[in-house]
Amino acid sequence: MKKLSIIFSLLVIIALVFSCSEVKRDPGRVYMPDMAYSRAYETYSVTDEQRKALLDQGIHYSNIPVEGTIKRGELMPFPFPKDAQGDSTNYVASKQFKSQIPTPDSIQMIEAERLFLVNCAICHGPKLDGNGPLYRQGEGPFPAAPANFIGGAQYKSMPEGQMFYSVAYGKNKMGSYASQLNSRQRWMVIAYIKSKQAAAASQAPATTDSTAKK
Ligand code: HEC
Repeated sequence: MKKLSIIFSLLVIIALVFSCSEVKRDPGRVYMPDMAYSRAYETYSVTDEQRKALLDQGIHYSNIPVEGTIKRGELMPFPFPKDAQGDSTNYVASKQFKSQIPTPDSIQMIEAERLFLVNCAICHGPKLDGNGPLYRQGEGPFPAAPANFIGGAQYKSMPEGQMFYSVAYGKNKMGSYASQLNSRQRWMVIAYIKSKQAAAASQAPATTDSTAKK
């Protein structure tokens, strides 16, 4: 009798397992479909066709943010677009532009340093001397000399706005960092470079940079 009940329950389990393996795609009857399937619009998912269909019904629906809208937490846009090839109007004008973030405090500076080490030090060197592991005093593999922020006179006096321009759009052999760093991070990295430059200037004798002025 016991055996019989074990066999019976095994059969039931097998039958259950097999009945479950069948894929059911038919949801059966839906009572009040509006409750089962949402008719709500996802704010940013209305397609052009849907918008046109709404317009045909006399509904003016725009899911596009008002022109000039800035994402929460985002900085105001950098006002200088990239110069056309051979032109340097905006590159020169960007010298006047001041950093959009307050000078990072000591804790934010740790993050700024991290960003520099991750993104820039491979070329510009962890000491900012333009001799990172990709350049190695010309031994490469990177062919072009990266800017020497500590020793190069032209870079020591380079205004932060112009640095931002070059980091955002690239400069000669250096590519743009706009996709790796958002504008706040770019300003942070530049603040880090400036702080290191100031520290180096206060240590070095004042005569060193008069020789290298270009
Ligand atoms: C792949 C190597 C490489 C990396 C990585 C790199 N740079 Fe450069 N950078 C260069 C080279 C090469 C130059 C010199 C460009 C030139 O010929 O004027 C340069 C120049 C610069 C200049 C001076 C631009 C000018 O207007 O003259 C700044 C500022 C600068 N880099 C900042 C950065 C920052 C900030 C980062 C990290 C986000 C970075 N770079 C990452 C190679 C690099």
